[in-house]
Amino acid sequence: MRILGFMGSPRTKGLCARFTESALNGAASRGAEVKQFNLVKYHIKYCRGCYKCVYKNHELPIGKCPLKDDMAVILTEYLEADGYIMASPVYDFTVPAVMKAFIERRFPMFYKVKGSRGVPDARVKQNFKKKASLIATGSAGDEYASIAEPCFEVMSGHFMIEEIDIVDQLYVGLIHNVDEKRYKEKMDETYSMGVRLVEEIEKARKGE
Ligand SMILES: Cc1cc2nc3c(=O)[nH]c(=O)nc-3n(C[C@H](O)[C@H](O)[C@H](O)COP(=O)(O)O)c2cc1C
Repeated sequence: MRILGFMGSPRTKGLCARFTESALNGAASRGAEVKQFNLVKYHIKYCRGCYKCVYKNHELPIGKCPLKDDMAVILTEYLEADGYIMASPVYDFTVPAVMKAFIERRFPMFYKVKGSRGVPDARVKQNFKKKASLIATGSAGDEYASIAEPCFEVMSGHFMIEEIDIVDQLYVGLIHNVDEKRYKEKMDETYSMGVRLVEEIEKARKGE
């Protein structure tokens, strides 16, 4: 089983990065192969909105994007993986540009017949056999967790269309005042998220 962590903070040594690592360690403790993508370190151009990826090559599992950067390789790994951790700070009530650019460039996973109504559909439906868990961090305290709702929506939208379940969704607030005790609690919580993610994927595969 392969679990990928997509980390959208521009700070690669910040809390999102550490929580992602912790969740992946939890997944690894259950035998998963894991890989963390600190997205800011990758060459990811902005989507140009040309629609070539969704309108053409409907026989392929991944559409062809004319932009040349790291996304083609990332999307191949994305399709081959079994589960995902997505982690993002709240920036101005939503995900930061780093994460948003990555999410928009997942458009080749979708197709649409020109002129048809509705939103593009997933090229490959996962039939809820793949799963994902989401982490968001913010400076607002945990009692303001609803501030992270737009982040969770943005991070889970594509999963919904691909039929990938969300197992856990964790908001960690008051991020600039995390003492040692709370830090450990949240590291343990994110580790458990990784464990649970693998367990839930295994259950779905057995048809439980
Ligand atoms: C440009 C910017 C906008 C932010 N907007 C919000 C916000 O709307 N709500 C909030 O709770 N925190 C906000 N924050 C605080 C970040 O969420 C916080 O710095 C981040 O979660 C730290 O995570 P990291 O260590 O992984 O980078 C903002 C921070 C920056 C730099």
